[in-house]
Amino acid sequence: MAWKTLDDMELNGKVVLVRVDINVPVENGLVTDATRIEKIVPTVKDILAHGGKPVLLAHYGRPKGKPVAEMSLKLTLPALEAALGQAVTFAEDCIGGPAKAAVSAMAAGDVVLLENTRFHAGEEANDPALAAAMAALGEVYVNDAFSAAHRAHASTEGIARLLPACAGRLMEAELKALEAALGNPVRPVVAVVGGAKVSTKLDLLGNLVTRVDHLVIGGGMANTFLVAQGVEVGKSLAERDMAPTALEILEKAREAGCTIHLPVDVVVAREFKAHAANETVPVADCPADAMILDAGPQTVAAIAEVFAACRTLIWNGPLGAFEIAPFDAATNAAAAKAAALTAAGTLVSVAGGGDTVAALNKAGAAEGFTYISTAGGAFLEWMEGKDLPGVAALMD
Ligand code: 3PG
Ligand code: MG
Repeated sequence: MAWKTLDDMELNGKVVLVRVDINVPVENGLVTDATRIEKIVPTVKDILAHGGKPVLLAHYGRPKGKPVAEMSLKLTLPALEAALGQAVTFAEDCIGGPAKAAVSAMAAGDVVLLENTRFHAGEEANDPALAAAMAALGEVYVNDAFSAAHRAHASTEGIARLLPACAGRLMEAELKALEAALGNPVRPVVAVVGGAKVSTKLDLLGNLVTRVDHLVIGGGMANTFLVAQGVEVGKSLAERDMAPTALEILEKAREAGCTIHLPVDVVVAREFKAHAANETVPVADCPADAMILDAGPQTVAAIAEVFAACRTLIWNGPLGAFEIAPFDAATNAAAAKAAALTAAGTLVSVAGGGDTVAALNKAGAAEGFTYISTAGGAFLEWMEGKDLPGVAALMD
């Protein structure tokens, strides 16, 4: 690997600045999903075990360069302390007096969390002065925030160029899983791409058709491909103006030898609500007054066959309206199949992207995957084949 890990660094007695992503969902001041917080624990504990003093740098929300009380990282403190099993000192600013005081008071075994880096306009501007002010607090920089690595910000990119830098354990795990899924995968490779709109995933589809052997298209975006091929989809969500683009993607796939799999049967309803009356029809028979809300059982069987024939699966986006039962059936069944093949040892399965993780958790299949990314936007940009600035800065 072109980047260093904690194993390559001298940490004993050193102040270690660790960029983490603890941008977790919060409701009424309480963290509702602590996954991202739990995932940074191995890195922090590893630094402590090697005698280092971890000082956590992170953003929260989008405060647009000024302090916003509701976006203080203080709200993550109880969840962070619970995950680490120890007290954490909070500093009211990520640079200057409060940060320096907290860092200089650290004893071995202590952990410090600095206030939201995005309270400074220089964070998103990747201002060298802010990066230097943060770098001045420590001696080593560890980036454990893969899910924020698509941002070229002072705490993810600029600072990595100012201190000896390495990937944390979570960053390492993410990069290895992604490399196994798309960088240098065991073939054949199948990608599942779902979700509402083709327009938001154009670059992703364009990149994938040149990299994978099979591409399963699901969700609302499948309707756009169906329309492009002259299939009538009634009142279904479809981006009719994207039809030419869909045809271009199909052509690009044909040239690249990537087989595209679209629904052959669909579950249709007249209302978009849970338990709406529904029927399953061949894809060509969507009634004019109905909308497609899920893929049908024959489609699921075809997807299962593709999964069984492949050795690597990369998944982004649900196959149907997974938020409302029973239109989560195809997503659940395909996820269960992926988990079973993973358990049987024939499939390496990697998934990521906001809705995807929610859908797989809901399907109860997330644990059965080889790797579930903590990243939303960063996972998508990586699937698009883009360089992630936060990762690139660790390479140099
Ligand atoms: C995320 O939640 O996707 C990351 O923390 C990045 O946040 P951002 O989209 O506000 O940059
Ligand atoms: Mg985001």
